[in-house]
Parts: sequence; structure tokens; C-alpha cells
Amino acid sequence: MAIKYVPEPFRIKMVERIKILSREEREQKIKEAKYNLFNLKAEDVYIDLLTDSGTNAMSADQWSGIMQGDEAYAGAKSYYNLVNAAKDIFNYEFIQPVHQGRAAEKVLFPILLGKGKYAISNMFFDTTRAHVELAGARAIDCVVEEAKDPSLRAPFKGNMDVEKLEKLINELGKENIGLVVMTITNNSAGGQPVSVQNMREVSAICKKYNIPLNIDAARFSENAYFVKQREEEFKNSSIKEITREMFSYADMFTMSAKKDAIVNMGGLIGIKDNEELYQKIKGNCISYEGFITYGGLSGRDLEAVAIGLYEGQDEDYLRYRIGQLEYLASKLDDAGIAYQAPVGGHGIFIDAKAMFPHIPYYEFPGQALAVELYKEAGIRTCDIGSYMLGNDPDTGKQLRAEFEFTRLAIPRRVYTQAHFDIMADALIAIKERASSVKGYRITWEPPILRHFQAHLEPIE
Ligand code: F0G
Repeated sequence: MAIKYVPEPFRIKMVERIKILSREEREQKIKEAKYNLFNLKAEDVYIDLLTDSGTNAMSADQWSGIMQGDEAYAGAKSYYNLVNAAKDIFNYEFIQPVHQGRAAEKVLFPILLGKGKYAISNMFFDTTRAHVELAGARAIDCVVEEAKDPSLRAPFKGNMDVEKLEKLINELGKENIGLVVMTITNNSAGGQPVSVQNMREVSAICKKYNIPLNIDAARFSENAYFVKQREEEFKNSSIKEITREMFSYADMFTMSAKKDAIVNMGGLIGIKDNEELYQKIKGNCISYEGFITYGGLSGRDLEAVAIGLYEGQDEDYLRYRIGQLEYLASKLDDAGIAYQAPVGGHGIFIDAKAMFPHIPYYEFPGQALAVELYKEAGIRTCDIGSYMLGNDPDTGKQLRAEFEFTRLAIPRRVYTQAHFDIMADALIAIKERASSVKGYRITWEPPILRHFQAHLEPIE
């Protein structure tokens, strides 16, 4: 039985019109887009679930903050507002704004990584992996085994496999490990949370071998909410207390504020207490992003992040947000549709391999489902599977991904219960005709990050 939808803890003050094209029009549009959802015009999409990043609805308080933005080049009031908010929430000494998450990675990673070095993570997000490699190092994923079975329900499928981590450190040599990264929540594994206990164990290993520990903090508030729900020790703690506890185990963090700070643009670097490292960060930031007190953002953006950091920590909001996904997941349970379970924080990752057992990985089941969702209901999603993974850089052969997911990423405070019903109904309708859905072949692809630009066609 479907569970109840948690009502929105806000009312709507401003709306944006969306329209749905006819089925024939959608079929035409996706064909013209060469069956690549990134090639669609946003106005041809009815419910846009391509990403939860920067697609959030800001509050009336944030919009008022925008009007108060101090645009001074140096020492703006909005900079101090942001630094004070972040210091208060994370309890770190040094805070550096940057324009988005990958900018934080670009500024920080070259200081700690270089040729011959490794970075190990519970799972790297694509751009994070790219910045490890751009710095000359190699990126290794080390997530717990239970993350790899979508149907297996476990409370913390985002965790690091600590035994494997220690083994890797010993094999590769502790002096060659430049950085350990904990991604909270674990996006690539399905928005799955990491427990505080796991943070503690990872931190103890990092201390033992003297390796810096970084948090990839994009969805830190959602992670804290899951900890409160699922980790006995924290059931009476506030979201802020849990956040401070999680961050106390790391040395630094990189953060895309486009997620849990509920803004459209922004990012942060935090350093717990290492002043020497902060000095180096300031140097890189001035070269790549802009002066220290604006870091590639307008004053108004700094102000919106400062306010949004607190709004993202509000427990009523988090209950509603995670509740939306649990509502959708319970409808899928009733219909026997498999997904990375239990549902994660920022999206639901549908197991397209289970939906289309007749489509092999090299015909991209996750992409096939993404195309069907657009044709069925004008919903835009993306493949998180072999299509996204691409080819082996040495042999040029298609790689086989651990999962074949289609991700429905949910923008914050944007869609209502009726939109969630449409998502469930569309997935159920596709499941009913699943055996007639065809796989895809690539007709053109660029050499790197191909999924953003490739052309495809259905295999008849
Ligand atoms: N780290 C994680 C865990 C992310 O999910 C993202 C972005 C980044 C870093 C990079 O941040 O986009 O601000 O530069 N994830 C988005 C997504 C794009 O759709 O999952 P950014």
C-alpha cells in the first residue's frame, strides 16, 4: 500500500508555467534530439528530473537576500554572512566560497594530489573523479558490497568498505594516497547515506596512516536526516548536531551548494584548522575563481547560499523532501518496479536492467528507459549506467557498468504530489509494455564524457 505524502511545509508564492506536448510532438522532439535527453530544449519537457543540482526553488527569504547582496569586490557583507553561516553549521575555521562543486575540486585537489598518487572514495561523482585525474592522480571507488545489489535493503548503502580501504592503503603504500574522500550522500550509488559510525572508522584509518580526509558534502543535510532516522545513537540529536559530528571526523570539505543549500549556483571549500592549507587554497582561488571574498560568485549568490544552508537543515523540510521519494518508492513497490532500495535522498534510481532484461548493457537499458519516460509523460531523466560510463580509454571497448540505472533526480521544493503520481503512473505504464521496448546504438560520440553529446538511434 502506498504510504502518505508528507505535505509541503511551505506555500507557493510564485509559479512558472510548464506545458505538456502531445505524444506525437514528444516522439518528434526526442528523435530530433538524437535520443539524447541533454539535447532537448527545457521548454519541451513537462517534469524535468535531469538533475537536482541548481534546479531548486528559492524561498522568499532567499529572494530578499538577493536584493541585499553586497557586490563589493573585496570584503562584502554577503561574504561575511556566508562565512559566519558555514562556520556555525560545520564548526570549521576556514571557509572559501567558489562558484560550484567542481570549482572547489579544481582549487583543492592539485594541492594534495599529483602524478603517482591515488585518491580513494566510497564513490566518486564524475566531475570529482575527473579532477582527481586532471591533477595527475588515479581515483579508486571503495563502496560497501551491499550497494551493488539494488534489491538488497540496508540502512547505509553509501558507506565506505573500511576493510578494503585499509587493504588498498597497504597495497598501494600509504605515502601514495593523497586523499580519502567521503561522498555524503553517495550520489553514484543512488543517493545512499553514510553512517556516522562509518565516518568514524574511516577517520581512524586516515589518522593511523596520516592521510587527509575530505568530505564531498553536496547532500550533507539529507545525509544527516538519514542518520537521525537510522542510527540509534542520533535519534534525539538535531540535524545541526549530526552535521557537526559528521564533519568533526574530516579535515576539509568540498561542496556543491547547488544541492542542499537550495540555490541555483554556488560552492564552498571548508578547512577545519589547517591554516597552511587555507593559504594555498586562497592562492588557487584568486587565480581560478576570483578574489577570496567572492570566489566566482556575485554578492547576491553568497547571500542566497548563506540563507539556504540553514533552510536545507530544517527538519520539517527534510521530512517532506525524503517523504516525497518514499511516497514514490512505495507506489513502485506496489507495482513491482525495482530501484536502488531503500530510496536515496535526492532521487530514485530505477533498475532498468530489471525492467528490460532483454536489453544488454551495450544497448543501454538505462537510456532506453529515459527515452520512454519522455515519450510516455514528458519526463526528463538520465542514464546512470553503461551509456554514461563510456568506453575503455585504452581499448576503446564499451565498458560494463556495475548498475544500469535511470535516475529521477528531484529538484528541491519544485514538484507537488500530482507530479509524483505522474512519475509513478508513467513507470507503471512502461513496465506493462516493457518487452516491446528496444535498445539503442550510438551513431556518433565525442571522445570524452560522451553521454552529454552523443547521438543515438533505436535498434529495430
Ligand atoms: N560532488 C557530487 C557528489 C555531486 O553530485 C556533484 C554534482 C558535484 C560534486 C559537482 O558539483 O555540479 O556544482 O560542479 N552533481 C550534479 C548531479 C551535477 O546531477 O548529480 P557541481
